[in-house]
Amino acid sequence: MQSLYLLVGTLLACHVLYLFIKRRIRARNLPPKYWTIDPFMNLDWTFSTALNAKEQLTLFEKYGHTYRLSKLTNPMAAIVTCHPENAHAVLVGQDWGIGFRKPGMGQMLGSGFICTDGPEWKRSRKMLRPAFHRPNIDNFNVLEGVADKVIASIEAADGKVEMSSLMYDALMHSSMQFILGIDSTEADDGRPMNAQTFNKLWQEGLLGMGIRLLLGESLSKTFLPKARYQDVCDQIHSFLDFAIDKGEKADPDPTKKTKTMAEIVTPQAKDRADARSQLAQTMLASQDTTGVLTCNVVHLLSSRPDLWAQLRKEVSSASPELLTWDGLRSNTTIQNILLETLRLRPVFPQTGRIAIRDTVLPSGGGPNHDQPLPVPAGTFAISNAWGVHVSKEIYGPDANEWKPERWNNFKPGSKEFLPFGAGPRACLGKDKALAEAAYLLARLARRFESLESLTPWKPDASFSMKNKKGYRITFKV
Ligand code: HEM
Repeated sequence: MQSLYLLVGTLLACHVLYLFIKRRIRARNLPPKYWTIDPFMNLDWTFSTALNAKEQLTLFEKYGHTYRLSKLTNPMAAIVTCHPENAHAVLVGQDWGIGFRKPGMGQMLGSGFICTDGPEWKRSRKMLRPAFHRPNIDNFNVLEGVADKVIASIEAADGKVEMSSLMYDALMHSSMQFILGIDSTEADDGRPMNAQTFNKLWQEGLLGMGIRLLLGESLSKTFLPKARYQDVCDQIHSFLDFAIDKGEKADPDPTKKTKTMAEIVTPQAKDRADARSQLAQTMLASQDTTGVLTCNVVHLLSSRPDLWAQLRKEVSSASPELLTWDGLRSNTTIQNILLETLRLRPVFPQTGRIAIRDTVLPSGGGPNHDQPLPVPAGTFAISNAWGVHVSKEIYGPDANEWKPERWNNFKPGSKEFLPFGAGPRACLGKDKALAEAAYLLARLARRFESLESLTPWKPDASFSMKNKKGYRITFKV
């Protein structure tokens, strides 16, 4: 009996040793491993890169352009990469999906392009696309009012403002008009709540959704209180339903030049819940994007009084045509400033996808980590655009400096500049966002002689690339 135990024990030990050696051999061809304290969820990585954004870049310096996060049962549970080929492949590849977001997002945002793949995502994108056609976004009527209000608020505060809250409110107003067809300044048109209350609920909902995304479905169901979140989602939905009703009642004139997204999406949607999901998801995609870009532009310009003066001279002496779609797009100074800001401070520094089938990334495999890397289905990948954008190999030794002039004679390849994503899922709002930011910048430069930032840069990249310390700016007339 004793020798039987011995035999079984030896066989077991041999098997464990075999598995261990096999794993070590396989690991030799995998990217370097991030040494995690939490081998179950890698929460130490999540928190350290969220709480200290610069850690995202430091880890690339330490491990190289592509590294892996391992779990107890999986030596390559996730890949983090700033290799331009890999970062691009993850964004454009049909083997990568985002359906994993749906359980955390669905209750508030339903089902739409932000959390679906394949035919469902294609259908959503097709529905939204007409809303971004030129006549619809080449319309500065709303933006003119937004800029007037921003400038009036700065003047009323003697030039000293917290730019992010100002931009958030202003651009929420513009998004509401563009997406929902609701004027946030109106009150008694039958809407279930005023726009300010909606904004507060929206923020609360986003927080609840973020926690649910982080914890995953089963932990959220077990530990998080349900009633308040459900109530917040219901109220948000009632506001969106009001916009849908309004869109349905709108003038059906097919020759009308501009339409709100609610008017465009509702007739194409399967039902009310479907229309609501598309609108809610676009609200999320547009939120804190143009505003964050504009705040970063202003913050960076405060360190370049020469450039502000040049910009001011150009916009002050220009004809009124400057403040048109074509005028703004052909102004090199403005365009260079926007591109360089999106390079150094990409609004979305990193994007996550999951491999929906076995696939291969162009680099990171083999003993020198420069061979194609086979990736099994279920592996999570983080494409880090920020890391790509500060690569010295691509942008030169001054890659970490903000120099809009570099764009005068530099054109990055399609894989080297990814602020709006890439491929079939690339941002639909890109042209609208760039036109809005350009317009706001031109109006500010026209009005104010100089500007000074009172807050140093400390990046917070937990969702979008903002300054942790806010944007306290002093404008001088
Ligand atoms: C500076 C401003 C903006 C930046 C930097 C930005 C960036 C991005 C990025 C990186 C993606 C791709 C996400 C991925 O690959 O998973 C994306 C997608 C998208 N963005 Fe934007 N965005 C901006 C503004 C906007 C605005 C204002 C709107 C709408 C009004 C918008 C609508 C969308 C939509 C609809 C998608 C999804 C496309 C799809 O999944 O098919 N974006 N955006």
